[in-house]
Amino acid sequence: LGDEAAPLRWAEGALLVLDQRALPAEERWIECRTPDRVADCIRSMAVRGAPAIGLAAAYGMALAERGGDDLAAAAELLRATRPTAVNLGWAIDRALEAAGDGTLLELARRLHREQEEADRRLAELGAERFRPGDRALTHCNTGALATGGYGTAGGVLRTSWERGRLAQVWVDETRPLLQGARLTAWELHRAGIPVRVVADSAAGGLMARGLVDRVVVGADRIAANGDVANKVGTYPLAVLAARHDVPFYVAAPVSTIDPRTPNGAAIPIEERDAAEVTETAEAFNPAFDVTPAELITAVFTEAGVLEPPYGESIARVASG
Ligand code: MRU
Repeated sequence: LGDEAAPLRWAEGALLVLDQRALPAEERWIECRTPDRVADCIRSMAVRGAPAIGLAAAYGMALAERGGDDLAAAAELLRATRPTAVNLGWAIDRALEAAGDGTLLELARRLHREQEEADRRLAELGAERFRPGDRALTHCNTGALATGGYGTAGGVLRTSWERGRLAQVWVDETRPLLQGARLTAWELHRAGIPVRVVADSAAGGLMARGLVDRVVVGADRIAANGDVANKVGTYPLAVLAARHDVPFYVAAPVSTIDPRTPNGAAIPIEERDAAEVTETAEAFNPAFDVTPAELITAVFTEAGVLEPPYGESIARVASG
C-alpha cells in the first residue's frame, strides 16, 4: 500500500475493492466484474464507510452498464445492501439519472474526485475549530478508507495536525468490528499523528479527567432537523461530551444530508448478525445509533460549517 490506503481502484474493466476486514494485517484486493460482486463487498463490509459504499455502488452501476444488465435491478440490489448510510442511495440515484448514455464509469470517477474535493474542503473548515494542544477523541473509521478521498472526521484530524492544531487523538476501538482500533489507529499512525486506542467504555473516564478537548465523528445520515446517525456508540459520546462541556463535532459531505428524512426516528438502523457480537449467546447488534441535534456543536461540510438551529442551516445547503 502506498501512503494513501485507497479503498477502491478501477483497473482494466474491474473494480478492485481493498478488503478492510483483513486490515491492517493483510492487504487483500477483491476483483469485482459484476454488480453482484460489488453488492457482496458492501454487505460483508469488505468496503465500508458511508461515502465509500456510495462510490462502490456507483462503480457497481458502471459494471452493470458495461455488462448490459438491467440497471433498475442492479440499482435495487445495491441499494438493499445496507440501509442506514444515505450516500449509498444518493450515488445510485445519480447513476440512474445519468443512465442511458454509456457514461456511468465516467460518473463514478467524477463522484470519486468530488468526494476527495469535498473531504479536503470540510477538513479545512473543521480544522479552524481546533486549537494547538488539542486532544481529540474519535469513533469508528472516517479516514480515506471510509470515503475514497481524504476522510471526513479523519480528514479534519489530519488537517488539524498539519496546521499544528492537534496534540493527539484518542481512538475508540469501536466494537464490535474494531474499525477504530484496526483502521483509524493505523491510518492516523501512518500520518504521523500520536494515537492512543481506548476501549469504547473508557471515553467517560477520559472526559471526567479533563483529557479530551474535542470529539469529532463522521455520519451515515443527517436528517433534516440535524439528528445524526453514525456508528453505534456515537450517541453515548455525545451525551458524555455535553456532560463534560466538550465540543462535539460531526464531519460529513453534503451527500450525507437527507432532507427527505425529517428526524432521527425516521432513520433506518441496520441490525447485523449476532455473530459479530458473540458466538455463544443471543445478541442484538444495531450497527448505528442516533445523536439528537441538540447535542451537536457544529457540522463540518464542504458547503460550510452548520450550526444550530439545524433545520435552517441544513435547508440552506441540502441538495434536495
Ligand atoms: O459500519 P461502517 O463501518 O460502514 O460505519 C461507518 C461509520 O459509522 C462512519 O463513521 C461513517 O460512515 C462516516 S465515514 C466517513
